[in-house]
Amino acid sequence: MDKLTISNVTLSFGGLNALMDVSLEIHPGLITSIIGPNGAGKTSLLNCVSGFYHPVSGDIYYGDQRLTKASPHQVSNLGIARAFQNIELFRGMTVLDNLMLARHQKLRYNFWQAVVYFGRASLQ
Ligand SMILES: Nc1ncnc2c1ncn2[C@@H]1O[C@H](COP(=O)(O)OP(=O)(O)OP(=O)(O)O)[C@@H](O)[C@H]1O
Ligand SMILES: [Mg+2]
Repeated sequence: MDKLTISNVTLSFGGLNALMDVSLEIHPGLITSIIGPNGAGKTSLLNCVSGFYHPVSGDIYYGDQRLTKASPHQVSNLGIARAFQNIELFRGMTVLDNLMLARHQKLRYNFWQAVVYFGRASLQ
């Protein structure tokens, strides 16, 4: 795990500044919370980290890897996963199953092995 560094990030939607000059560091081994009232920009910040949105200015680094303009799959390849706030959850799946979806990136078996539950598919 590496340190996540968010430096002077600004994100705008038209004339609305969802994030203005946001800076923080998230250190490995610590549980860090981002708190704030509705509309404060918490989800927007997570969307910038996970590559769904790209800040108009500022930088995001994971260790020495620049995430500022990275796409979601590139961020995911670095081992950074996110959960969604509400309607993006899979209905009918348990909380644990929803969370374990993030492991999909780490699975090392193919579609057909999964279908027949063979080899590595049966181990993970
Ligand atoms: N895709 C978008 N298009 C336009 N405006 C947006 C978009 N996403 C967020 N916003 C606006 O950006 C601001 C921050 O929203 P955001 O969803 O990040 O807040 P939040 O802190 O996650 O709120 P909540 O506690 O309700 O989840 C709000 O004014 C919101 O309306
Ligand atoms: Mg939110």
